[in-house]
Amino acid sequence: MQLIDGKATAAAIKAEIAGEVEQMVSAGGRRPHLAAVLVGHDGGSETYVKNKVKACEECGFRSTLVRYEEDVTEEELLDCVRRLNEDDTVDGFIVQLPLPPHISEQKVIETIDYRKDVDGFHPVNVGRMAIGLPCYISATPKGILELLRRYGIVTSGKKCVVLGRSNIVGKPMAQLMMQKDYGDATVTVCHSHSRDLKEECRAADILIAAIGRPGFVTADMVKNGAVVIDVGTTRVPDASRKSGYRLSGDVDFENVASRCSYISPVPGGVGPMTICMLMLNTLAAGKKEYYG
Ligand code: GUN
Repeated sequence: MQLIDGKATAAAIKAEIAGEVEQMVSAGGRRPHLAAVLVGHDGGSETYVKNKVKACEECGFRSTLVRYEEDVTEEELLDCVRRLNEDDTVDGFIVQLPLPPHISEQKVIETIDYRKDVDGFHPVNVGRMAIGLPCYISATPKGILELLRRYGIVTSGKKCVVLGRSNIVGKPMAQLMMQKDYGDATVTVCHSHSRDLKEECRAADILIAAIGRPGFVTADMVKNGAVVIDVGTTRVPDASRKSGYRLSGDVDFENVASRCSYISPVPGGVGPMTICMLMLNTLAAGKKEYYG
């Protein structure tokens, strides 16, 4: 069994990005500029955004954090999005989700100029991804593809089961794993209403778990020699930690790991790759790689 080290891989990629940025700057170019919009004070969102700003520093990017209180109106937030769309000094930006219930996330996402949508959530980017055109690909599935590629894991022709059908992970992951230029695999998507879920999982050469239920994937659901990618990051209370919680994956790692050829742990697997892929998307935005 080989552990997939997302932390080390992410550090290597950030160093590669930083090297490229210094070359761009030496050649007279601008540093890529990412803006992040954060509404309210949700602990998880605060941490994510703080880590995104830190990653920008590590990559040599410029970053701007725009903050609003929880009671910002939808129109104020949409105006902010429109300003960022028009701001030529900003290459790409994100609006951290979730948003308060009085604001339509979909409206916000659709107001973002798809050419600056480094999260890859805008329907134009989602649609272009689905038909294999150049676009921003959302960070978690992109990070998983990058881990599989860097670990030399062959996916072509393999049976891949994706557990979960969210717009951010499950759906794009399944799309990419089936595409000729990415996974080139035979893909099955399972969810809370799938019949024979255990049998489907047991048939998988590559099992990608993204359902947000701690320890859901047990040893009897994993074929010997399978590759298991754990996308789960549920916070479970843990009084022994300073933070009061620990992150728990969707896979019962202790009992599953010995069966696998490769397995990604939580934490330290997919998680660190996600922010790193946002940085790769921002680099592409800075170079106007997809949309001129
Ligand atoms: N909330 C949780 N993950 C993400 C993400 O990748 N992007 C944004 N904008 N919000 C999130």
